[in-house]
Amino acid sequence: MAVEKRRVRILSGMRPSGKLHLGHYHGVLENWLELQRDHDCYFFVADWHALTTEYSDPSGLRDNIIEMVIDWLSVGIDPERSVIFLQSGVKEHAELFVLLAMITPLGWLERNPTYKEQLSELKDKDLHTFGFLGYPVLQTADIIVYRAEKVPVGIDQAPHIELAREITRRFNYLYGDTFPEPQTLLTESPKVLGTDGRKMSKSYNNAIYLDDPPEVVDKKIRTMVTDTARMKRRDPGNPDVCPVYISFHSLYSDEETRRWVREGCTTAGIGCIECKRSVIPNVIERLAPIQERRRELVKDPDRVRAVLDRDTAKARAVAQETMEMVRRAMGLG
Ligand code: TRP
Ligand code: SF4
Repeated sequence: MAVEKRRVRILSGMRPSGKLHLGHYHGVLENWLELQRDHDCYFFVADWHALTTEYSDPSGLRDNIIEMVIDWLSVGIDPERSVIFLQSGVKEHAELFVLLAMITPLGWLERNPTYKEQLSELKDKDLHTFGFLGYPVLQTADIIVYRAEKVPVGIDQAPHIELAREITRRFNYLYGDTFPEPQTLLTESPKVLGTDGRKMSKSYNNAIYLDDPPEVVDKKIRTMVTDTARMKRRDPGNPDVCPVYISFHSLYSDEETRRWVREGCTTAGIGCIECKRSVIPNVIERLAPIQERRRELVKDPDRVRAVLDRDTAKARAVAQETMEMVRRAMGLG
């Protein structure tokens, strides 16, 4: 008789910043797709977290939420395998946030490197708010309210998960073992550079979006920067520093093509236009089935909302169970 193996519970979330690009796809979603094959996955839209920075103009939030979920579904995040839900639909996150706030020393939050970095980077926004300082406390609640064991995140989020572990340990120490200590699952993700050679990001205006039509993908890659030291056709180039190679050939070209590029680039045997032309169709082809599914989903946003509603209720049931334990442990209720 087959013994059903208990699947490890995974939780991760994304702030709804609008439609997703190839950086999200290779950096996050491909990992989620792999994980949902054999883990108990919870993926959620962190709309409250979005408000920590977007509170002064939340007008785009509703559309961004639905756009992002459509992107998740169109790449193959599967609601029959994973629980796909909305943070603000599970009020238990907020309740746990309040309780964790009682036991989180201010110094832990003020010392958080991501916090300090963002304060100085996002200068156009006033982030001297209680909510922004408490960002990692809410994130901790997001994770442990599902008693999640592993949290797949990129390196930029690692300090937050470290803080979540510390807060969890403190809770367990004060009130008795209640939560598993969540582990960081540092996701190996390829670097995806945008058309200007910087990290692909919506705010740099250098992104290729999952829903960019073929002619847009073609134009963006054709005009993309290459090895900036290769000024003229007769100059040799270096694929290892070229954004076209790093973001596209290494992810979309077969070995033979990559060899051809290496050889041709370093000897000035091929030009950049030719080089780009050899990879563009592969990118377009990879996006085609995603865009096909996307078109279907866009036609039927009610179905997307129905998935989100159903799964948010599923998530809530788990969160409610946890909160029963938490209230008991803290002498409440
Ligand atoms: N802070 C994460 C980000 O900006 C999003 C997030 C919120 C999250 N809560 C989480 C990620 C819990 C993992 C687990 O990407
Ligand atoms: Fe980049 Fe290709 Fe041009 Fe070399 S030939 S610099 S790899 S675009």
